[in-house]
This record gives sequence, structure tokens and C-alpha cells, in this order.
Amino acid sequence: MSNTLVLGCMWGDEAKAKIVDYLAEKADFVVRFQGGSNAGHTIVTEGKKYVFHTIPSGIMFPQTLCLIGAGVLIDPAAVLEEIKALEKQGINLKDRLLIDFRAGLVLPLHKELDAEQEGRLGDARIGTTKRGIGPAYSDYTARTGLRLHDLQFEGYTAERLQALYRHHHKKITKEQLQEEVVSLSKAFRSLKKYVGDVELSLYEAHRDGSNILFEGAQGALLDNIYGNYPFVTSSRVMTDAVGTGTGFSARYLDKVIGVYKAYCTRVGEGPFVTEIKDELAETIRKTGNEYGATTGRPRRIGWFDTVAASYSARLNKLDCLAITCLDVLSGLPELKLCVAHKQKGRRQENYDFHSFEANEVSPVYETFSGWEEDISGCRSLAKLPLAARRYLVALEDYLETKVEIVSVGKDRKQTFTINRKRSMK
Ligand code: IMO
Ligand code: MG
Repeated sequence: MSNTLVLGCMWGDEAKAKIVDYLAEKADFVVRFQGGSNAGHTIVTEGKKYVFHTIPSGIMFPQTLCLIGAGVLIDPAAVLEEIKALEKQGINLKDRLLIDFRAGLVLPLHKELDAEQEGRLGDARIGTTKRGIGPAYSDYTARTGLRLHDLQFEGYTAERLQALYRHHHKKITKEQLQEEVVSLSKAFRSLKKYVGDVELSLYEAHRDGSNILFEGAQGALLDNIYGNYPFVTSSRVMTDAVGTGTGFSARYLDKVIGVYKAYCTRVGEGPFVTEIKDELAETIRKTGNEYGATTGRPRRIGWFDTVAASYSARLNKLDCLAITCLDVLSGLPELKLCVAHKQKGRRQENYDFHSFEANEVSPVYETFSGWEEDISGCRSLAKLPLAARRYLVALEDYLETKVEIVSVGKDRKQTFTINRKRSMK
């Protein structure tokens, strides 16, 4: 029995789903606790690609039950579409999916507001996924939002919806309101069989000795408070968010695995100290297929930033690291590791600069030799070239946390766990 969290620790897209999928075979439950359809979680197995947005990645294993906690936003139409697409791919969801009745809703109005807000911000835009995430979480917090179980009452839904449009100074005719209520009620009838009490289910699962795996979305540096505000998402993306997002206290967690890509990527706006601006970025983007799984946007590429990474390791009290996409670095003559930041001539080792001053912050690099070998077939540390092992050791040293899992390719099989009895060096 164990309660494990797999958490993205940079700006999202760390290939978390791959690690969740790797561990999910032994899990009885896989649980999402924050975010919504802004997430794009990709799994590749036997040449087939699956992308998840709101449904936990554990749904790939027929014996695994998938829970969506109250901290996750539900866009009813998008979730139904995802369910349909998965069923089409032969994945059975019957009796395997449970969504907390307390989950907040993303409504068409929220997507409209998201796009409008981004437009109004102009050059100061966040670069959101335009999935309505910010406005929906804002409404939840402001108590003007709707929750999943509200949809069982048509009259109540109509009343709340009308108040919401008023709150946002948006006009809606009686007919349009009625149309939206009918469509939400219809969606709820389809989703009803999946709606229940995730808090209670997790409590019982734990009591019965189940293995529970929590799946983070986004990344800790997109956390609403501890990320690069305002270039963040609107949910809490930290170890502690497991408790608030599911009702199952983070104190129950036995293990927190921090997922980091072997280099950095970021989509959307915001500070990125180690961003690579020359053609090398395009080379890495192409090799790593670094395009958003949700929006298709090209991801910004950068060297691994140990200042940012050790901050997120500290925030989340990680037990170990999972390093992904190591294979993408193969063939590069040299690798750079950012070991400190420099601002106004001063060396900084803490990640606390103001986003407004981000342009003044430059990276201090340590250079490592690269490796020529194709490592995508390696299934143990010993099989990795010495240069790759040295790079991993450096990450461990700077983050003061051991690497436990390494991923060397997109396929489920291209992952291995480090046998700690052997030395890293
Ligand atoms: P996964 O789970 C990468 C980014 C957006 C934007 C900011 C706010 O696939 O790692 P939002 O739509 O949440 O209001 O956008 O957060 N962002 C992500 N970046 N991966 C994600 O999810 C992301 N979800 C949101 O690009 O910068
Ligand atoms: Mg993603």
C-alpha cells in the first residue's frame, strides 16, 4: 500500500504522463487533483499515441480506477468528448471513472472571458491555453461559479447561470439562457454515472490498503502563488494541492516524485532565464517534438535551470527525481547547466526575481560534454554513456535529490528505474 504523487516541477510538459503510465500498472487508483483541460498528457505505447486532458492517464490500465478530485475544473462538453474519443480507441471507462461532485465548471462564458482578457492584456498577455481556466477558477473562488452537482437541478442552474452573466456584465436572452441550461443538463445526464464523492472514495481506498497514485497537471513553476506570477496558471500546483484538490490530505503521501525534463521548455509568456534563442532551439524542438499537446504551440526551449529546479524541489519536498527526454540531448556536442543566476552583477542562487526584471537576469553556465550514442535502447544506468551519467549526477547534486526514474524515449518501454545498489559515478 502506498500513496505516491507524480508532480511536474517546471513549467508543465515534463512528460509527467509517461511517468504516471510507467507506475500506474501497480496502482489501484490514479487521481487528478488540479487543473483542467489546459493539460495535455501524452502516452505512447505500441506505436499508438493517446492524449489526455482531464481524464487521468491511468485509464490505460483496465484494472485501474481513475478519480478526478474537486480541485479539477470540468468542462462538461470537453470531458464528454474525451470520454467518447477514448471509448473509440477501445478504452473502457465504465465503472472506472469518478468525478467529484464538488468540481467547478468551465462554461462557454469562461472561454470567452479567457480570450477577451488575453486580448485586453495585449503585450502583457499570459499566453493561456484559452480553455477558460483563469475565469473559471476566479468564479469558483468568488463564489459566483457553478459546480458539477448543481446541474442536477435545472431551475437552480438557470438562476446561477443568469447571475453569472450579470456578474460579468454580459447580456444573455431568455432563449439563450434556456438553451444553455438544456445543453448543460443534457451533458450532466451523460456524465451522471461518473459523478460521486472522491474524498470519501479516497478515504476508503486508503483504509482498505490500496495503492494510490496522484497525477499532477501543469508544473510547480506555474503554481498560482509560487510560480512566476502573473505568468502562471490559476490552480495550485504543489504537493500540498493534493489535499485541497481531493480532500485526501497531503499528509498521507508516502512519496513525492518530481518530474523534470533533461532540458527546459515553456509555452506561453513569462520569464525563462535559460531560453535558447538560436537555431539550437529548433533542433531540440524538432528532436523532442516540442509542440503543445493541447494547443499545438511550439514550446520555448532552454537549458536546464538548476536555480529554478532546486526551488521547486524544495517547495514540494521531493523524495526523488524522474528525468525525462534524456535521449533528446543525444548528439549535442556539449550541454549547459545553469548553476546560478546573475542580476545587476550579483550572483543569485535563489529563484526570487520579479517578472518585471526578468530581462536583467542572466544564466551562469557550467558546461558538460555531450554524448553521441543513441541511448533510446538503454534500460539501466550502466548502459548510459559516461557523459549522460555525469549529467544526471550533476542534476542530483544541484537539486540535492536522487534520480530514481529515467526516460529515454516516448514509448512506455523506454523508461527505467535506477538500481540504487550500484553507484551513479
Ligand atoms: P500540462 O499538464 C504547459 C501554461 C499556459 C500559460 C499559463 C496559463 O500538459 O503540463 P492557463 O490556460 O492555465 O490559464 O495558462 O500556463 N500552461 C501549461 N503549460 N503545460 C501545461 O499543462 C499547461 N497548462 C497551462 O501556456 O503560460
Ligand atoms: Mg502537456
